[in-house]
Amino acid sequence: MRAVDLIRKKRDGLELSNEEIGFLIQGYSVGDVPDYQMAAWAMAVYYQGMSARETADLTLHMAASGDMVDLSSIHGLMVDKHSTGGVGDKTTIVLGPLVAAAGVPVAKMSGRGLGHTGGTIDKLEAISGFSVELGKEQFFNQVNEIGLAVVGQSGNMTPADKKLYGLRDVTATVDSIPLIASSVMSKKIAAGADAIVLDVKTGSGAFMKTLDDSIRLAKAMVDIGTQVGRSTVAVISDMDQPLGYAIGNALEIKEAVATLKGEGPADLEEVCLILASHMLVLGGKAESEAEARKILQEKLSSGEALDKLKALVQAQGGDITQIHDLQLLPQAEIIVEVKSSSDGFVESIQAEEIGIAAMLLGAGRETKDSIIDLAAGVVLHKKIGDPVALGETLAVLHLNEVHRAGCVEAGNRVREAYGISTVKVQRRPLVFALVT
Ligand code: URA
Repeated sequence: MRAVDLIRKKRDGLELSNEEIGFLIQGYSVGDVPDYQMAAWAMAVYYQGMSARETADLTLHMAASGDMVDLSSIHGLMVDKHSTGGVGDKTTIVLGPLVAAAGVPVAKMSGRGLGHTGGTIDKLEAISGFSVELGKEQFFNQVNEIGLAVVGQSGNMTPADKKLYGLRDVTATVDSIPLIASSVMSKKIAAGADAIVLDVKTGSGAFMKTLDDSIRLAKAMVDIGTQVGRSTVAVISDMDQPLGYAIGNALEIKEAVATLKGEGPADLEEVCLILASHMLVLGGKAESEAEARKILQEKLSSGEALDKLKALVQAQGGDITQIHDLQLLPQAEIIVEVKSSSDGFVESIQAEEIGIAAMLLGAGRETKDSIIDLAAGVVLHKKIGDPVALGETLAVLHLNEVHRAGCVEAGNRVREAYGISTVKVQRRPLVFALVT
């Protein structure tokens, strides 16, 4: 078999066999297929697409390119959740404990943030001492004992995807639906999920800006799940403005804890309840979403979900006093208010711009090696639909002295991210569609 023949076949719109896809992925992983041939193939896929069968084969070959986690020593069906990334998305920190409290084990491998999007692992590290590196045994034992563990992704999971994603990033081939779908699903399959709930974001802060593209991506991922025997459902949720009010690591932990106490933002609570309901149904703990929702609401109001977060923090070495008293979490030295320059109603909030502003304040990474400031970030005071008066606070910047240089640009970006209308604005739905 020769890579050039497979590139030509795809360029001409033909379907590759499982063996041919395996030849490319294994060859690329070990360096037999060079970057320039893989780039040409990725561009051919970008234009010609892939069938559902090809996409599933690609997913399995990428999943098998590195460590595959065997979760069979954990009791119960493993339901994973994946979000396609956004701004202010702290759902894992709320729904991990919530779902675990309802009896579905959560063995979660999460990532770090890059650019305008945050990562669950960074957020949890805002709690002093919280360790995201557990040995395999410790990880499994913790899930069996308290129902929940959250760790960083192991170094050797899906190396073929890592390499291909890096190549796509510099060859304008990231935004290909089969390539994104196989990349996401390969990581979930390698992480050992029996079933998967996908939160596909749509809007200005999302990978997919339009509803049509978001639905196409969701369908491609659900199709992969079906083909490889993992029950998968996808919720299309709004990312046309940040989720909740807080963007930044410690700030988001505070908001997640408030949500577990039943005192969080309505949009965050609702998205968590919807995603968690699907997890309960797939995990066999409820017959219907309605039944699941009742169980979950009870876990919130009884305090069991919050207790589960405390158990997680304690088990992974975190300082539990910071959960009891949120003022003990990292706090920024400087607070700057961003004020509205007009009267009216908030019509739009460019979520990506808010994410970039938070990054300029130190909350996110400009490059993979940037050091983040756990206290920094942005807290919105106004969301879409809210009335606003001239001079009223739209949002508050939290920063430390070392990032003062980024403050003016961050403030301008936040102000400009807000679109203000003179007429009353209709709020967008929080969830647009369910793809099964
Ligand atoms: N996220 C991924 O993990 N892979 C992609 O290709 C795009 C987004």
